[in-house]
Amino acid sequence: MCGIIGITGQAAAVDGVVSGLRRLEYRGYDSAGVVTTDPKGLRLVKRAGKLDNLTAALEGQPLSASTALGHTRWATHGEPNDRNAHPHLDPSGRVAIVHNGIIENYQTLKAELGDVRFASETDSEVVAHLIAEELAAPAPATAPATATAAERAMSTAEAGTPDLLAAVRAVVARLEGAYALCVVAADDPETLVVAKHEAPLILAQADGVGYCASDVAALIEHTNEVAALLDGQLARITPDGVEVVDVDGAPATPHAYTVDWDLAAAEKQGYDHFMLKEIHEQPQAVADTLLDRLNAPAPGLPPRLQLDELRIDEGEFSRIDKVFILACGTSLHAGMVGKLAIEHWAGIPVDVEVASEFRYRDPIVDPHTLVIAISQSGETIDTIAGAAHARDQRAPVIALTNVVGSTLARDADGVLYTHAGPEVAVASTKAFTTQIVGCLLLGLYLGQARGRVYSSEVADILERFDRVPDALREVLALDGQLRELAQRYHDVDSTMFIGRHAGLPIAMEGALKLKEISYLHAEAFPAGEMKHGPIALIEPGSLVVALAPAGHVFGKMVSNIQEVRARGASVLAIGTAGSTAALVEHADDVLTLPEPPHELAGPVLSVVPLQLFSYHVATLRGEDVDQPRNLAKTVTVE
Ligand code: M6R
Repeated sequence: MCGIIGITGQAAAVDGVVSGLRRLEYRGYDSAGVVTTDPKGLRLVKRAGKLDNLTAALEGQPLSASTALGHTRWATHGEPNDRNAHPHLDPSGRVAIVHNGIIENYQTLKAELGDVRFASETDSEVVAHLIAEELAAPAPATAPATATAAERAMSTAEAGTPDLLAAVRAVVARLEGAYALCVVAADDPETLVVAKHEAPLILAQADGVGYCASDVAALIEHTNEVAALLDGQLARITPDGVEVVDVDGAPATPHAYTVDWDLAAAEKQGYDHFMLKEIHEQPQAVADTLLDRLNAPAPGLPPRLQLDELRIDEGEFSRIDKVFILACGTSLHAGMVGKLAIEHWAGIPVDVEVASEFRYRDPIVDPHTLVIAISQSGETIDTIAGAAHARDQRAPVIALTNVVGSTLARDADGVLYTHAGPEVAVASTKAFTTQIVGCLLLGLYLGQARGRVYSSEVADILERFDRVPDALREVLALDGQLRELAQRYHDVDSTMFIGRHAGLPIAMEGALKLKEISYLHAEAFPAGEMKHGPIALIEPGSLVVALAPAGHVFGKMVSNIQEVRARGASVLAIGTAGSTAALVEHADDVLTLPEPPHELAGPVLSVVPLQLFSYHVATLRGEDVDQPRNLAKTVTVE
């Protein structure tokens, strides 16, 4: 949450910062601001609301500088207004900071500053005050052996010379909570100083320009060679280079990597919204997740499913006797399909857990427990912390993520990338379908490793999976029908999504998609649970969306559909070629999907009409599809 970009050494740096903020806006969009440096002082413009409000303000008040720092905010402390927007200044206006995260001890720190007036209600502003205080303090010439971290930090600066990096080091030693910080000072106008703890921060240097940003999306127009700052690291970025140190001031090495997508992938490419573009990218994204997974280990041997990125020897999986899948939101729903796949092919019991709950209880985890942490961004704090909680108990962790080099990927013992390309819309679509495919691959791989699935079966199942992209194209061709259905139902008060087996995670995902972008009330239930309570909510005018593909639970779904219809609900049934003839007499509307090439691949297809339905409902209601209210794409605070 919150997007940061800093640029130093570029003519018209503000234009670059605004362009970067445009690509980071999905991280938070309730206010935005920019500050430039100049030996005469800092110049600041910030506005509540979307980035367009800031750019309009900048037109009337152009800022010209070669060093600029920008921020787009998702509010945690203080309402989203101009005052609480970042950057924040110290009282003298000589230091400016932007922050992503939460400073948990900000009230204590404010109290320690004494009788000082704060301009905002944020937890972040105090950091600017503390840095200014450090810069103003006379530095000791040398630090004694008994020096505190703050004193040691100051000792690296020349005695009497204010050093921004040393001052920031001294201050972060006092912070509790999570932060990605970027700091500029009028007295050091060509320098950006950054610090990171439990919130992402990326560095880059290209053609005499230094950059920092919350996400590579903001930097990809300049370079694809980047480095992720690690927890506890700080950096001084100037046009001449980047110096990275740890909290003690010793040289440190960030995680350098090459981004494997380009600027075009992060553009709308003619679509009205990123969400629509990303829905339509799913056939290719799924094909990319599946690419090159089946290989003969040696000439003459039968091909095996190979997940080379995992970095964990296949033999290790024979010792696993339990799996936890940790995730949040949409990724959690993918994990629910993962449970079905792993239990089916590998025969290992699987618990799927909301990551924010897992980390605060005492789960029974040991070295024989495999933890699969699923996160599109790889930066969701709850999932990262849940995985760390498991690693502390020596459980191996596999990250299933879309973002190469993300914190989750770096921290895990093994990683499986979904290769979906950048997902910009807040509502997750292609990341979800590729996560499901990733889960299916992991389930099959565990089954293979444990000798429960023969090579010939593996090859047959993978050949079936390879047909999923074409089946997805057939589903996408139903868009016109879904637009008509959205036209009919976009004003309903309440929608319930019901499903069984592999249909249940999709019912849950369908309800999440509808509520997050259209703000309509939507809930999902296992179809069999309806008569244990939720059916009391059904009344004439309610809409029930029922996932009813052909398969072993189809008959039960038909009974559950009849039960809600008998109580006045309109039923939109999502069937497959083998089930819709039987559905027609029980539902008001029936959508026919192709039969999936494998039952467990069914969710990859059946979620797509629900994505399109939500998209059309939201646009018909005039909502901002790509940036729904109150949400942010990357949730880096608890
Ligand atoms: O990046 P992650 O996959 O960890 O994100 C988890 C959730 O925040 C995310 O899936 C969220 O639910 C989406 N907005 C859903 O569309």
